Amino acid sequence: MEKPFVYVTRALPEEQLSSLKEAAHIEMWEKEDEPCPRAVLLEKAKTAAGLLTMLSDRIDSELLSEARQLKVVANLAVGYDNIDVEAAKKHRVICCNTPGVLTESTADLTFALLMAASRRIIEASDWIKQGRWTGWGPLLLAGADVHHKTIGIVGMGSIGRAVARRAKGFGMKILYHNRSRSQEAEAELGAVYTSFPQLLEQSDFVVCLTPLTNETNHLFNRSAFQKMKRTAIFINASRGQVVDEADLYEALVNKEIRGAGLDVFAEEPISKDHPLVSLPQVTALPHIGSATNETREAMMRLCAENIALVLGGEPARTEL
Ligand code: DGY
Repeated sequence: MEKPFVYVTRALPEEQLSSLKEAAHIEMWEKEDEPCPRAVLLEKAKTAAGLLTMLSDRIDSELLSEARQLKVVANLAVGYDNIDVEAAKKHRVICCNTPGVLTESTADLTFALLMAASRRIIEASDWIKQGRWTGWGPLLLAGADVHHKTIGIVGMGSIGRAVARRAKGFGMKILYHNRSRSQEAEAELGAVYTSFPQLLEQSDFVVCLTPLTNETNHLFNRSAFQKMKRTAIFINASRGQVVDEADLYEALVNKEIRGAGLDVFAEEPISKDHPLVSLPQVTALPHIGSATNETREAMMRLCAENIALVLGGEPARTEL
């Protein structure tokens, strides 16, 4: 019997897909750091039983209605705002993401970004590399303390809790806002549930980890930034569209907040001419939240395993 066809939309190391090799005929988009063009994805999806997709691939009604043999989409990310899950359900396509395996690495990066933004780490390193270090100065590249400050986490899922554990180690007061209360975060970490406006008003660091949905689109807008302390630092490691970038730019330029650490942007990739990147008080990263070798490999293996399970008639490990 012919093996089912699985299309992988980025060049991935084959050894990470070994669990799928027996079960499927695998084909990959040949480039590692360039997305598979939409036209290629639509064409491949027409005959694929499985797709291993990236967060930059749109899985929508247009694709699903032509993908007659498609049984499973495994997205190499915990976020799945690129997938129309309702449409997939109608087409009886199972969708999976990669929760769990990336929690700690993403929390590490989020906290590193917070530290870098507050202590001006990237700016300071660039200072030396640009040959500008001519002497010690009492306030040279002085930043803001992290320890014992207040962190406000918006989105207290597993990554939010992992960030809170790191914050606890720094003696920080932890506030959080979430759709539902997290007993675990309250009992284990002493995190305090607050309304969204209260969190904005009281936090020294406002950390956005909430998924992108219709409700969270542009959640961080002019009105939100105006509620924050003028010394606040805003961190986003979720999705760019949760922020109104024009409003964030205004807030930074008008010194309504002190700085920002951004791992994600509304339209990725951004160029060096993006207005937010021109500001010294912005620490910008190219969406590397879960990007460690160990974690990305674990994410790839989980995707491959999910596809193999579904094609073998078994439930996926992490179905949406
Ligand atoms: C995710 O998994 O959603 C991250 O944004 C990818 O790094």
